[in-house]
Amino acid sequence: MSITYKDAAGIEGMRVAGRLAAEVLDYLTPHIKPGITTREIDRLAAECMKQQGSVSATLGYQPAGYPPYPASLCTSVNHVVCHGIPNDKPLKKGDIVNVDVTVIKDGWFGDTSRMFMVGEVSIAARRLVNVTFEAMWHGIMRVKPGIHLGDIGYAIQKFAEGHGFSVVREFCGHGIGRNFHEEPQVLHYGKPGTLDELKPGMTFTIEPMINAGRRDVKEFGNDGWTIVTKDHSLSAQWEHTVLVTETGYEVMTLSPGCPPPPPFVNA
Ligand code: MF3
Ligand code: CO
Ligand code: CO
Repeated sequence: MSITYKDAAGIEGMRVAGRLAAEVLDYLTPHIKPGITTREIDRLAAECMKQQGSVSATLGYQPAGYPPYPASLCTSVNHVVCHGIPNDKPLKKGDIVNVDVTVIKDGWFGDTSRMFMVGEVSIAARRLVNVTFEAMWHGIMRVKPGIHLGDIGYAIQKFAEGHGFSVVREFCGHGIGRNFHEEPQVLHYGKPGTLDELKPGMTFTIEPMINAGRRDVKEFGNDGWTIVTKDHSLSAQWEHTVLVTETGYEVMTLSPGCPPPPPFVNA
């Protein structure tokens, strides 16, 4: 499979799916407090998608070599890097949790994730969450025709490592459209001027996973999905789906509740 370029109708389909995914996160936001279980967050998300007339892309998702993913979203708490499966353990004050939502609407996919700080969290945890958010935007703000995927990865890596954090290598952003994961892969590290050149109509995610400690990750337990940091350090992630426009980018996963870009972004 190769990169797909979206026409006007495809872009409109992606806008709708992207907004719906973001609105699921808006819907969940007031509920993410100490005491709620990630299973309850999953149930609320399923309820919201039903109201929207959207479908979870993750429920039953089964790439080659994986068991079917069992939930409507991913909840990755503290040292969980990604693909955490909702469970019955309540969130507690001081936790940081990534909630990653992918919906399908009229055949188009929208994929976005945010970090939530549960009650008051440590200064170190807050710093990781905020630096990761800014790292994502350092990648997004470079997007325009003519640049290369390596420019995005370089910007993210430079910023994150400049703050003493590390970039996960094993998972990356991805093209998205009528498929959950399409070409190209969008690495969150790299060298300027390398890899594919961006062209108008491309849609892909930027979703850096940044660790407070070492970059290494491992599988956790035997659910076939959960990934944790090897050194048990905290990990954070934010994700948007973006479109390459004629002159720059459009973020497709915006919603009223989505945190605004950092001040250094001139959109
Ligand atoms: N939403 C994730 C991503 O950003 C993928 C989750 S796949 C799942 O690509 F099966 F774990 F849900
Ligand atoms: Co996602
Ligand atoms: Co994604």
